[in-house]
Amino acid sequence: MSKTWATFTGDLLLELRGARRRAGLEAALREAVRSDRLAPGTPLPSSRALSIELGLARNTVADAYAQLIAEGWLAARHGAGTRVADRIEADARHGELHSDVVRQPRTTQYSYDLRPGTPNLAAFPRTAWSAAARKALAQVPNQMLGYPDPRGLPTLRQTLVEYLARVRGVRATSEHVVICSGFVQALYLLSTALRRTGAGGVGIESYGLAIHRDIIEAAGLTTHPLTVDDAGARVDEVTVSGTRAVLLTPAHQFPIGVALAAQRRADVLRWASEHGGLVIEDDYDGEFRYDARPVGALQSLAPDLVAYVGTASKSLAPGLGLAWLVVPGHALEGVLEAKRLSDRYTGIFEQLALDEFIRSGGYDKHVRRSRLRYRQRRDALVSVLAERAPDVAVTGIAAGLHAVLQLGRGLRAADEPSICSRAGRAGLAVQGLGEFRRTPQPTAPAALVVGYGRPPDHAFAGALEALCDVLG
Ligand SMILES: Cc1ncc(COP(=O)(O)O)c(C=O)c1O
Repeated sequence: MSKTWATFTGDLLLELRGARRRAGLEAALREAVRSDRLAPGTPLPSSRALSIELGLARNTVADAYAQLIAEGWLAARHGAGTRVADRIEADARHGELHSDVVRQPRTTQYSYDLRPGTPNLAAFPRTAWSAAARKALAQVPNQMLGYPDPRGLPTLRQTLVEYLARVRGVRATSEHVVICSGFVQALYLLSTALRRTGAGGVGIESYGLAIHRDIIEAAGLTTHPLTVDDAGARVDEVTVSGTRAVLLTPAHQFPIGVALAAQRRADVLRWASEHGGLVIEDDYDGEFRYDARPVGALQSLAPDLVAYVGTASKSLAPGLGLAWLVVPGHALEGVLEAKRLSDRYTGIFEQLALDEFIRSGGYDKHVRRSRLRYRQRRDALVSVLAERAPDVAVTGIAAGLHAVLQLGRGLRAADEPSICSRAGRAGLAVQGLGEFRRTPQPTAPAALVVGYGRPPDHAFAGALEALCDVLG
């Protein structure tokens, strides 16, 4: 056993040996660093040595290392191999990568946080929400507190059918709506149902959240990245046989920010119709569009081919744990079986409150107000960068709560971790675009994904100032 093998002693080596895919290897290494089983500065074996030890392809190990370097868990210096990143680098990079509950802040307290994924939690409508929750609880009949329908409360499902038809053009009846604990659960239920019907793979956008890929793979499916360009995902790349579904963010690609073009929409629906495929539509920030031109839900064009998922994580708060899945009839039974076996049903108290909140008009009011505030923030971000960091191009801003900052000046994706570390040392948490790439591209132009929706109002100006200091 070589000296570096002392790095992976006991259980850790066993765990790594149990990782049969890149996602599993990444998760095991990430957890080992997060939990301090691998201390900062520890050298790692070369990708070649580790691939032989684990019986994996060398590229699998090299890609996993590259991804963890992009995320800031590991660091590499030319000629010095790969090592566990120093704490400041790791803290600056992954403190809490949104939607990924495994990653938690360690020691660093940031003054400002511009990581994407979380809305302004200080703007949660506490008063209106508690009024809705109180009213709903006072009125709920006792029998509704028993074991609920696994699909969720019928009254909320009907309310959502009407709301989604009005706001996103979604076509459904309440039987097809399943209330989930988040988009992540909806994706897991759909993936499990697909796997049971013999599906082999799912096309996913080449940029996105690692947890979504991990979930599909945990259900036993293979993922196939699709190139993302100015017209959205290249759906013509769905050619691998056995691919039975495609996961897309059609209204606002995450994190690039483009909308799926009309021709691509038609193409992916044709593919689904001809191949018995399912399109999974992740409409995570569909309510926050600032352009005059609305982008309706893809589901409205073909309700039999599209599983639509919306979430309260952006419009209200991730902590609520509420999302809504509108599933075509042919996939409903499989989804409900998966729901029954996973958590049986989603708790009803938040559902009652959301139902009342929407029916009373409180939700529309909150979304309208939030849209205005986020738009003002977006405009402030664009104008301050134009003045203080003119080399930076801001893209993907027609919708949502985040923007992509193309850094220019010949900087590359490989430079993103050190830029984020510098920001971290200055008290500002930001993330590089590389953290959201399915396949690392160290020579791609450097970019940051900036969640301008996140800071509370009192910290927004300071966050912009800190950002300009880092980029200017
Ligand atoms: C691309 C994308 N999809 C979905 C979600 C919402 O996920 P969840 O409902 O699991 O919080 C997010 C939240 O950040 C997201 O960025």
